[in-house]
Amino acid sequence: MAKKFSHRHLLDIERLSAGDIDTILALAESNLKSLKNTPKKAGKLQGKTLVNLFFEPSTRTRTSFEIAAKRLGADVVNILIDQSSTKKGESLLDMVEAIDALGANALVIRHAEDGVPQFVAPHVKASVVNAGDGKHEHPTQALLDALVMRRHKKKLKGLTVAICGDIQHSRVARSNIHLLNKYGAKVRIIAPSYFMPLDFKNMKVEAFDDLKKGIAGADVIMMLRIQHERLGEGEFAVSLKEYSRDFGLNHDKLKAAKPDVIVMHPGPVNRDVEISSDLADDPKFSVIREQVQTGVAVRMAVLDLLMSQKSR
Ligand code: CP
Repeated sequence: MAKKFSHRHLLDIERLSAGDIDTILALAESNLKSLKNTPKKAGKLQGKTLVNLFFEPSTRTRTSFEIAAKRLGADVVNILIDQSSTKKGESLLDMVEAIDALGANALVIRHAEDGVPQFVAPHVKASVVNAGDGKHEHPTQALLDALVMRRHKKKLKGLTVAICGDIQHSRVARSNIHLLNKYGAKVRIIAPSYFMPLDFKNMKVEAFDDLKKGIAGADVIMMLRIQHERLGEGEFAVSLKEYSRDFGLNHDKLKAAKPDVIVMHPGPVNRDVEISSDLADDPKFSVIREQVQTGVAVRMAVLDLLMSQKSR
């Protein structure tokens, strides 16, 4: 497959073109097939090194980047932030420059602050991959979500996608909104006033504060976790029970959507808060497990496109 990808880093969805995204998804699609048939190391990235720098907790993203890199034959180093020299007062930039000097070919960075991967990128020879920066973007999550949607619905253009929950603090929502708008999907956001982003009017979305109205006729529903770690004092003033009553999804409320709707969630799921436990596990609607599995193929595609370049 001819690869056309001119970026040295993957920092966000906003600055990718639909053509760039097509390139990543086409490669990810072929990875999905090869992972099924021959789940072995492909060796394309043999001799290359990926370094995972996760300043915030992660299960899915960190592990799938590691599996993806190893499937392609790369070596993987996981930096234990709590045992790194940042604990001795080293700045973040000095730390990443040291890791870059050690010969890393890719730095996968997750950080609680918006903009950290974008700040680091011009200072290093390695390719930087944003694995989630604050409430800004989580590009590989949106890419894997797009692939799952496309595999189920055969297209993105014209799909009605309802994203529900803590939109204000969600990097997943922002990356998905950018991506879906590039492909002509109809994006709705559903949130209580305290989780509605102040800039939602600039986001090319239709906003709702009523879950059933927001999911009416939807092809895809994406539920989001309350990002407690990013909430300010007094920002979430209702009980989880009240929140779940008004903004939690269950089989009964789901009847408002299309009969063949798919239900997504980037994880981690807080069961019986934003989604009922039985709906999260219902294979008729829920594609949550498939999202996790698709993450390896998508991250393989991203690493292949970035790390195959001669950057060092
Ligand atoms: N979806 C997601 O980013 O999950 P993790 O926090 O487990 O990586």
